Amino acid sequence: MGKFLGYRALRPGETIFGGKGSLIPFRTNDPMVYDRVGLLAEIRRGFTLDWAGHHGANHWGRVRHHALSIAKSRGANLLVVELFAFLHDSQRRDEWRDPKHGDRGAEYARSLQGRFYELSTKALSQLTQAIRHHSGGEISTDATIQSCWDADRLDLGRVGIKPAAEYLSSEGASRIDFAYCWSKRKCYREAHSLSH
Ligand SMILES: [Fe+2]
Ligand SMILES: [Fe+2]
Repeated sequence: MGKFLGYRALRPGETIFGGKGSLIPFRTNDPMVYDRVGLLAEIRRGFTLDWAGHHGANHWGRVRHHALSIAKSRGANLLVVELFAFLHDSQRRDEWRDPKHGDRGAEYARSLQGRFYELSTKALSQLTQAIRHHSGGEISTDATIQSCWDADRLDLGRVGIKPAAEYLSSEGASRIDFAYCWSKRKCYREAHSLSH
C-alpha cells in the first residue's frame, strides 16, 4: 500500500474514491515523491513578489540544487531540504527588508502538511526551524537544517555578496566558487550539466 503522503488534486479523467473534497490521497514508498506540482502551484498563487526576482523561483532552483547536493553528501533528509528551497522565501512581502518572512514561511509550511506532503514529526520540525531561522546567520549542528542554510547562503552572489565559509558546513564551503559563479549568471552550462 505504501506510506500515506497526503492529498493531491484530481487529474483529468480521475474520479474521487475515498478522497477529501476534490483531493485524493496518494501513497508511495519513495520519500521523495510528494505532490510537487500541486505545491508549486499553491505557492505561486500566493506569491506577491516578482516570480523571477531575487527571492523568486530562480533563486529557489539554485537553492534546491545546492541543498540536495550537500544533503546527499551529508546523509541529510532530501525531502526536507527540497521543501525548504521552495518554501523559505515564499512568504516574503518585500525584496529588501522583511524580518518576519521566516516566521510566516514556517507557519505556512506547517499549514501545508497533509495536503502536499506528510513529514514525520522530526522532519516537520527540521523544516519549520530551518525556515524560521534561515536569515539569522546561525550555524546548526543538525545536518538537514545546515544543508538548507548552506544552500541559501551559497546563492548570495545574486545580490553581489560572496558566501563566507565560516557560515557554511565544510561541504557547503567546498561549493563556494561554483555557486558564486552560477549566482552571478556566468556558469549556466556547468550548472546545467551538474543538475541533469
Ligand atoms: Fe529569506
Ligand atoms: Fe533565500
